[in-house]
Amino acid sequence: MQRPKITVVGAGNVGATVAQYIALKELGDVVLTDIVEGVPQGKALDMQEAAPIQGSDSRITGTNGYEETAGSDVIVITAGIARKPGMSRDDLVSTNVKVIRSVVKEVAPRSPDAVLILVTNPSDVMAQVAFRESGFPANRIVGLGGVLDSARFRTFIAMELGVSYEDVSAFVLGGHGDDMVPLARYSYVSGIPIDKLMSQSAIDRIVQRARQGGAEIVNFLKTGSAYYAPGASITQMVESIVKDKHRILPCSAYVTGQYGVSDLFLGVPVMLGTHGVEKVIEIELTAAEKAALHKSADGVRSVLNQL
Ligand SMILES: NC(=O)c1ccc[n+]([C@@H]2O[C@H](COP(=O)([O-])OP(=O)(O)OC[C@H]3O[C@@H](n4cnc5c(N)ncnc54)[C@H](O)[C@@H]3O)[C@@H](O)[C@H]2O)c1
Repeated sequence: MQRPKITVVGAGNVGATVAQYIALKELGDVVLTDIVEGVPQGKALDMQEAAPIQGSDSRITGTNGYEETAGSDVIVITAGIARKPGMSRDDLVSTNVKVIRSVVKEVAPRSPDAVLILVTNPSDVMAQVAFRESGFPANRIVGLGGVLDSARFRTFIAMELGVSYEDVSAFVLGGHGDDMVPLARYSYVSGIPIDKLMSQSAIDRIVQRARQGGAEIVNFLKTGSAYYAPGASITQMVESIVKDKHRILPCSAYVTGQYGVSDLFLGVPVMLGTHGVEKVIEIELTAAEKAALHKSADGVRSVLNQL
């Protein structure tokens, strides 16, 4: 039996981190590719040399080409530019759309059965671009957003209450941008709704911090954006796909009328398995939550319309 093959395009901060996490968890063999000569080769070899200590038999190959990516089961696309302080994710669109088009043209024909995970920002828009460019069915395109945004929301809830991070579950819907919709009503600590454990003003403060979670890191780093939590989030998505776990995770997926939105990649709860998005889950929303989700969808659509 062959191990799953996972390609990571872009060997920068996010790409290298996700490659390392995938190898650590032995989810499959990894091909790391980037346009900068030597960087993917050097990082891949460095990671491989950690294998004897970490006890992982994942093979990690670094390359500047695409031949080695052929027959991948999952392709994680992180290539492109990241935010600097003062920039929104949407400010990246004109540069990154060209990168995504060129990358998808290379990877899609070589791995016609792969699931594509779009990480490059703005990720909902990039998922739509990859959908058009690849000719893949919509279920095999998924964008990163909600898993990371929810992880941030969960972290701040755990910090506020002084409880274990793993006991907190939370949901963030909508586009991966400032209009994302953290759903406090669907957030729990070991099954206890968070509004039984903290005041509304504390919840509002945490929701706001989660919305600004990416910018908070950018403002600290100054030269780039977050990569450890994004890397962990992507790894969770990859794991659910290669192990066909059917986890329910908030991801950017193509909606066809769910939540009153059509023909758009938007953050919604999905079941992730070998076929990518096995199902979009529709949950009941209040009028206010639905309005917030529609505002977020309008934001994604307006960036798409500029292209
Ligand atoms: N969706 C999310 O939740 C999320 C989270 C974190 C980062 N991101 C996004 O991921 C992207 C990468 O972030 P990063 O911190 O790794 O940036 P980075 O600058 O560290 O790495 C980007 C890499 O892409 C490479 N690259 C550029 N053009 C390429 C091409 N045509 N083909 C192959 N490689 C190419 C660069 O050489 C570089 O190594 C950014 O757009 C960032 O905004 C998204």
